Amino acid sequence: MADGSSETKSSNQMWGGRFASGPDAIMEEINASIDFDKKLYAQDIRGSIAHATMLAHQGIISAEDKDKIVHGLGTILSEIESGTFEFSRRLEDIHMNVEARLAALVGPAAGRLHTARSRNDQVALDFRLWVKEELQKTEKALTALIAAFLDRAEEHADTVMPGFTHLQTAQPVTFGHHCMAYVEMFGRDRSRVRHAIEHMDESPIGAAALAGTGFPIDRHMTAKALGFREPTRNSIDTVSDRDFALEFLSIAAIAATHLSRLAEEIVIWSTPQFGFIRLSDAFSTGSSIMPQKKNPDAAELVRAKTGRINGSLIALLTVMKGLPLAYSKDMQEDKEQVFDAAESLELAIAAMTGMVRDMTVRADRMKAAAGSGYSTATDLADWLVREAGLPFRDAHHVTGRAVALAEQRGCDLSELSLADLQAINPAITDKVFDVLTVEASVASRTSFGGTAPAEVRKQIAWWRARN
Ligand code: ARG
Repeated sequence: MADGSSETKSSNQMWGGRFASGPDAIMEEINASIDFDKKLYAQDIRGSIAHATMLAHQGIISAEDKDKIVHGLGTILSEIESGTFEFSRRLEDIHMNVEARLAALVGPAAGRLHTARSRNDQVALDFRLWVKEELQKTEKALTALIAAFLDRAEEHADTVMPGFTHLQTAQPVTFGHHCMAYVEMFGRDRSRVRHAIEHMDESPIGAAALAGTGFPIDRHMTAKALGFREPTRNSIDTVSDRDFALEFLSIAAIAATHLSRLAEEIVIWSTPQFGFIRLSDAFSTGSSIMPQKKNPDAAELVRAKTGRINGSLIALLTVMKGLPLAYSKDMQEDKEQVFDAAESLELAIAAMTGMVRDMTVRADRMKAAAGSGYSTATDLADWLVREAGLPFRDAHHVTGRAVALAEQRGCDLSELSLADLQAINPAITDKVFDVLTVEASVASRTSFGGTAPAEVRKQIAWWRARN
């Protein structure tokens, strides 16, 4: 595209020593990453400051040069942040854009910054710092989403709704319990995030091109200055590896899958047919032709973002799968995938947090639906086992006949008469009606992790202590 080809074709000022002429315009276009890796400017400058400070501390460059470099880098940071910095595609990437500007600002001292370093360890550092910060943001965002769910769960620990399997009414549960299922999922996502931060908490800088360096650098010093636990142990691995990015993308894909299932439920629940929830105006849209409509667009878009995020994971896995060690330029294709997935995930979590926090829960509709579809059939079967001593398989059969009769009468199980029930099995007494209501059904499910309101409140308390 234009900005590169309009410039004169001199060889690259950073690495052009052995080149007689500059690159073809197409070469420049396929090679340049500045359009997207400029996002790494803050990490790049931070890394260079730590590197220059270490070089001076080790007597590899003078304190005077270090001061010039650090000062120049500060100027560049404010130029970029105020929008006055001119990025050039001829300079390929963020690393060389910053370094060229540094040379213009501080003269020959700038040329000493790249001592004992390569763009290979530099990009590994910048990108790792960026992904680490993104993981920290994701951790916070998931915490907010979990908090929103905990509030809704507490509010609705007693609200009965139908629980589904195969999207067919199965057994009554509480809405609080259903919310807590998502708390578990997003809690696992968050612990995956925390583990990933731990895995990647090693500093790449100082691995140089791939083999390390003969200069007496101190990699522990730069690691510490940049907030890493320790330096990476193998210089070849350091410049070859992008599994920290793959780990981010896999975590993002799993979290997005959870978000997508929730989005799907929100879409279903907000239909007039279900009517379990009403989305707030803030998180829905209208139709330009059908005045009655309120559409769950945010939920639909969250569901769709999963496709992009999964795509990014597959794209980077595919980029990496055939690469020999160490660095290959293929790896430059890592960033856009991660940037796009990160943006999608951040938005999806934020939108979901808003929807969960703001939606109106229609407890009356949930309760009405919970009682239909013979949702307490298992309670009847369990009662027959417990109170009448039937083997479960026989109880299952008796209950099946009761359901068939209710279906024939067009009523619910609890609406069958005692005489009807006794005609099916004489051991049934009027005590059975105690378990046929949805409230009795959920209250009886007191097993650890079960749907009984008291149990759900325990789960909520456990999470409150950890969120
Ligand atoms: N822009 C490059 C990337 O993102 C930086 C590393 C370039 N290294 C090299 N040896 N050409 O991967």
